[in-house]
Amino acid sequence: MQLFDLKGKTALITGASNGLGEQFARSLSSVGARVILVARRFDKLNDLALKLNNAKTIQMDVSDQQSVKSCFAELEKDGEKIDICVNNARIAILTPIFEEDDQNNFESIIQTNLMGVWYVTKAVKNYMKNHGIHGSIINIGSVNGDAFPYKEATAYATSKAAVIHMAKSFVTELSKYKIRINSIAPSLFHTPMTDHKLGTDQQRQEFAGKIPMGFVATPQDLDGALLLLASNAHSSYITRACITVDGGKSFGTSWGL
Ligand SMILES: NC(=O)c1ccc[n+]([C@@H]2O[C@H](COP(=O)([O-])OP(=O)(O)OC[C@H]3O[C@@H](n4cnc5c(N)ncnc54)[C@H](OP(=O)(O)O)[C@@H]3O)[C@@H](O)[C@H]2O)c1
Repeated sequence: MQLFDLKGKTALITGASNGLGEQFARSLSSVGARVILVARRFDKLNDLALKLNNAKTIQMDVSDQQSVKSCFAELEKDGEKIDICVNNARIAILTPIFEEDDQNNFESIIQTNLMGVWYVTKAVKNYMKNHGIHGSIINIGSVNGDAFPYKEATAYATSKAAVIHMAKSFVTELSKYKIRINSIAPSLFHTPMTDHKLGTDQQRQEFAGKIPMGFVATPQDLDGALLLLASNAHSSYITRACITVDGGKSFGTSWGL
């Protein structure tokens, strides 16, 4: 029996052209949701859309407020509704923070990972409010933002802490419209972007040795948290939560990656 059923719901997923975002789209689509796939690489989105039921693609740069506004105007014109929004898009530039061009790196990470979430959340809130939708917004944070910033990723960790805190802080405003907002804080998952860290058996074994649950997760291991938070039927009273999905890693020693 299928536990979650999102037939009749529409989910917008930012950063759906790669990695975890692609899996979030697959997962939401597999339980019946219409999915609106958002990223900058339109060809990758279109390739994914062909493999899913009931998918639409939108080329949007979340770091550019004008791009976000135009895309939402287009969605309005097309008569779309948005019940679920997954704020997943991110960039990660890993450099020591105080090196020469740290300012640019810091600003571009914050512009995409934090301001991007703000622009999309603002647009989604207005959209849901105007259409009377009691929706669900899910910010994808990281254990780097919640528990363990790790070396050379302090700007990234700062942005991830901020989106988790944003979900906690926005709750009063959004609850007025019966919109829920929560976050998910994953640890390291094996995706194309993390292949350099987890690509070989030896790397996976070493990493698994640092995880209390003793294995390296795949993107599918996030499905439960995602679908729970997406489904009003199962989480109507859950807002302001952050679900850590890390096999117990946050309990352990420092990252040492
Ligand atoms: N992978 C992990 O181990 C891990 C661990 C903890 C947390 N996370 C979090 O999980 C989420 C997904 O991670 P991932 O590893 O799947 O990331 P990823 O492979 O780097 O993918 C990032 C996605 O964001 C999109 N993106 C980047 N900048 C954008 C912009 N300005 N506008 C629109 N889209 C943009 C990219 O698409 P385009 O380039 O086509 O725009 C891409 O689809 C992130 O929020 C990340 O912080 C991941």
